[in-house]
Amino acid sequence: MALTAALAAGWWSCVDHPGTTSDITVSDYPVPEGFPPIPIPRDNPITSEKIALGRLLFYDDRLSRNGDLSCASCHRQSHAFADTLAVSRGSDSETGLRNAPAIVNIAYSGAWFWDGRARSIEEQILGALTSPIEMASDTAQVAQLLAHDEHYRQLFLQVFGTAPSARDAIRALATFCRVLISGNSRYDRYRRGDSSALSGAEKRGMALFFSSRTGCSGCHSGPNFTDNAFHSIGIHTHYYDRGRYYVTGNEGDIGKFRTPTLRNVALTAPYMNDGTLATLDEVLEHYNTGGKPFVNKDPRIRPLGLTRQELADLRAFLQALTDSAFITNPAFAQP
Ligand code: HEC
Ligand code: HEC
Repeated sequence: MALTAALAAGWWSCVDHPGTTSDITVSDYPVPEGFPPIPIPRDNPITSEKIALGRLLFYDDRLSRNGDLSCASCHRQSHAFADTLAVSRGSDSETGLRNAPAIVNIAYSGAWFWDGRARSIEEQILGALTSPIEMASDTAQVAQLLAHDEHYRQLFLQVFGTAPSARDAIRALATFCRVLISGNSRYDRYRRGDSSALSGAEKRGMALFFSSRTGCSGCHSGPNFTDNAFHSIGIHTHYYDRGRYYVTGNEGDIGKFRTPTLRNVALTAPYMNDGTLATLDEVLEHYNTGGKPFVNKDPRIRPLGLTRQELADLRAFLQALTDSAFITNPAFAQP
């Protein structure tokens, strides 16, 4: 089928592979069929012991300042490691500005956070641990907690050959996040040749998604449905959270956010950087009307004139991106 061939040609080619610098290499950790090897920092190889340690830390609420939040409080496996709140509540019940994104195939991104301010997953996790609106912890507190826990001391000795440190805890957490790979949705099965994996409505939605009429795949491109670039899609007429502007200082970047993946998107409501749209139907309505006027809005966001039936087909396609094996994989669950 022509559409399938066209999709396959562009499959991984537009991924912003950070493999050009000498401190990045790739892992031989197994990935789904058709996926490239996982890029890793040379000094943080993936081992099964490190994944197990990272998983333990990910679910340990003692890492937060008040001992009341773990990474998993905001990144829930049943929701593809996203949150169900519009904006996450941190330790001390400090409310943040932003919606916790899904942690899905983030190993292949070139920048992390909604504004792309983190340049590695390790840097990103240091941010999560210490941010007052997330764990509100500090590296000294984490190191001390781990050093006083006999089980952790043994595990760190096994994995890193030394006593626990915050730096190595971050390496283990980053490794666990790196292997949260999802590639077994019905859409993936269809791509691998099972033409019965998608229903009629889902196939019609897929054709619309990849058509110039909607332009969806212009930004939600490649295997992760993201160009890893920053755009404003006119969610607001005034952006209180300035997004990419905080990184570049460029006024043209106000209100721009990184294109999120659409893998497992049916599970990650509410939507957008601030969780402002509650359902997929609201998101599709937003695109169909062309969004709100805003100076930096991408010109591709314009009224689409889709019928009720076409909107329902698009929604059906987005729902076919759910990977139920990923959200029930016991290897990723609370140990
Ligand atoms: C209080 C809720 C909360 C907690 C706890 C939390 N996070 Fe997050 N996480 C968020 C929010 C909100 C963002 C988006 C922030 C932004 O873009 O500025 C985020 C972003 C991320 C991302 C970036 C994903 C991407 O694609 O850019 C990763 C990875 C991540 N968190 C991992 C973790 C880990 C590991 C922990 C535990 C050490 C953790 N988070 C704890 C709310 C939370
Ligand atoms: C110009 C680039 C661009 C185009 C075209 C585009 N999107 Fe998006 N999409 C984005 C960005 C950027 C965001 C996040 C915006 C924000 O948070 O302010 C987003 C968010 C979303 C979300 C919410 C995901 C989440 O996790 O919150 C969905 C669903 C979505 N888009 C679907 C679509 C569909 C369907 C189309 C076609 C009708 C489309 N997009 C067209 C860039 C684009």
